[in-house]
Amino acid sequence: MTRENRMASYQSHRELSINEISSLSIENAKSILIEVNQLIYQHDIAYHQKDAPIISDAEYDRLVQLSLAIENAFPELASQNSPTLRVGSIPSDQFEKITHARPMLSLSNIFNKEEVPAFIQRINRFLNLPAETEITFIVEPKIDGLSICLRYENGKLSTAATRGDGTTGEDVTKNIRTISSIPNFLPKNAPNICEIRGEVYMKKIDFLSLNKAQEQDGGKKFANPRNAAAGSLRQKDPSITAQRPLHFFAYALGETSKLISETHSGILSRLTYFGFSVNPLTTKCNSANSLITAYDKISATRSELEYDIDGVVYKIDRLDWQDRLGQVSRAPRWAVAHKFPAEQAETRILEIDIQIGRTGALTPVARLQPITVGGVVVSNATLHNEDEIRRKDIRIGDKVILQRAGDVIPQIVASMPEKRDGSETIFSFPVKCPACGNPAMRSNGEAVRRCTGGFLCDAQSIERLIHFVSRDAFDIEGLGSKQIIHFNKLGWLKYPSDIFLLPDKIDEIALLDRMGQKSAKNLINAIDARKKIGLERVIFALGIRQIGISTAKLLAETFETLPKLQQVCIAAQDKNHPAYQELIDIDQIGESIANDLIMFFSEKKNQQLISLLLENVTPVTPIKAQLDSPIAGKIIVFTGTLSQLSRAEAKAQAERMGAKVTGSVSQKTDYLIAGANSGNKSQKASKLGVTILSEDEWITLLS
Ligand code: IVH
Repeated sequence: MTRENRMASYQSHRELSINEISSLSIENAKSILIEVNQLIYQHDIAYHQKDAPIISDAEYDRLVQLSLAIENAFPELASQNSPTLRVGSIPSDQFEKITHARPMLSLSNIFNKEEVPAFIQRINRFLNLPAETEITFIVEPKIDGLSICLRYENGKLSTAATRGDGTTGEDVTKNIRTISSIPNFLPKNAPNICEIRGEVYMKKIDFLSLNKAQEQDGGKKFANPRNAAAGSLRQKDPSITAQRPLHFFAYALGETSKLISETHSGILSRLTYFGFSVNPLTTKCNSANSLITAYDKISATRSELEYDIDGVVYKIDRLDWQDRLGQVSRAPRWAVAHKFPAEQAETRILEIDIQIGRTGALTPVARLQPITVGGVVVSNATLHNEDEIRRKDIRIGDKVILQRAGDVIPQIVASMPEKRDGSETIFSFPVKCPACGNPAMRSNGEAVRRCTGGFLCDAQSIERLIHFVSRDAFDIEGLGSKQIIHFNKLGWLKYPSDIFLLPDKIDEIALLDRMGQKSAKNLINAIDARKKIGLERVIFALGIRQIGISTAKLLAETFETLPKLQQVCIAAQDKNHPAYQELIDIDQIGESIANDLIMFFSEKKNQQLISLLLENVTPVTPIKAQLDSPIAGKIIVFTGTLSQLSRAEAKAQAERMGAKVTGSVSQKTDYLIAGANSGNKSQKASKLGVTILSEDEWITLLS
């Protein structure tokens, strides 16, 4: 494989390691950066606004490192909206907003000890200090909570805000007032304007009892103490916050009307005097070695601490040096967070169970001998998929190393074969869904095995029905998830075709709680109104993997009827059949989507489901595109980068004008539209004598 080919094959950040970034093409770097930044954005929302992170901190850190590294290697790709310039996330609309008098910064991270001298050297260089100058640092534990800015005016607590996006935070003043360790007043000699910043946290033990209570009351359980603290503080009703045991460590000043010290350590002792808790593990150091010793010392106490910490923070003590060093993007140059590796513990796998997700994915879950890791009792861990079990050689009864880094989902790092006694058993991954008994299959190149039962599988049918009536699908007013769950429980609704039998039950529906004659009639009318419906909506509603509404539209326009699409997909099971070529010739339908279509339509149960559906529903073929345009009926292929339109826009425009856009050049192709950097397709087109148009020629042709 040439290097160029290898470069082009990075379709996802998952395949990429940071040291490969400089060898990416700019297009590839751009697409990966977009992917990574979107993920960071989603995870920021999950973490900061919903207090319910989806990925581990370590994975999140990796995404940020990737984004930063791509922006460093390709500065032209760095945008002002880059998540690496953002601190936290957009404040939620639930709260009033407060603009911080001084931005609330984040910290840059280092992950290993070798980076400590480099941090000091950078500072030395920036301040232009003689080589032997001693720099004093303050080392503090990095508390795993949420940062808060407390503003005191004339000695009285006036506002409290979360960090939000660093510029604007959420007003949580009323909630903060319920925390007993936060003083409402400062001593008389405190500055008139005095902002105190620090971390609100929950002790591990309180987190565990809170979760127990939540479980008993059917409330939301929190993933870790940090989320419990954030979720408890960010309550609309402060009386709920008041019932939650929250604490606060002060570690910095924001805006102040008067300088209260010339050093950070001086500030910390003033903060203690003001009545705040300052972390007792805070120490002074003046060399890389002493920083590392302090790191090791704090790290050694980590599991015994009452609260979660995820690293230590090194801060320059002298404030004048802090000022000179300033900040770069969202983090100060004068401080850095040295993160801990994930906490690990040893335990045993008691059993491996299979969970069936809403999309039919079979996920193996290890049931563990309960063990405390990172302050939290863990009794389950996901094993992801069958390849992972094989790769890590994990057996039932094995001793394993478990890892949690303030993380949401604990991970099994490795099995310990040296500790086997022969009683361990190899897990054989089911090839049938444990919920419905239908075959569970793996598509080409996919690690996940999925149940093919679709609507027949109880674990999936509700979610599939909810999708079936969603906005871009059947969009049936009055039939939402609540009604679907209810009707399903009553045994009225399992398959999509059952929806169209609901009108026979109008009298029974009218008698249901919160229904009545009128709502029942409205629901029946809404169902009747969908008996004639766009084919693309029907295709989308089937919930075939990878088939979003735009691909459904494409399929509807290409095949015009559901039986035709089904027939082609069935024939395409044989990859040598022309039907297979016909499928993958459709622009945007590659082998992977084609396989999902084939798998869905060739499944007998799905065929039955479709024929039942078609007894009640008449799909309408989308109106044909314009027929009198210069490209009507022509087969067109786009290649390279277009400068005036995105590929998707150009394609939609061509289709509106009656052309068929395909993905590969063949003898049937009428025009190849070649944008910048077009490659193989142009060569193939000239070989086959296909007309090649530049972007300008194409635009002229259309006009
Ligand atoms: S100093 C300008 N000190 O870590 C630097 N932050 O990743 C401001 N944090 O937003 C932060 N313990 O939420 C500082 N001892 C400590 C900290 C600490 C925890 C959090 C804080 C900050 C985040 C940055």
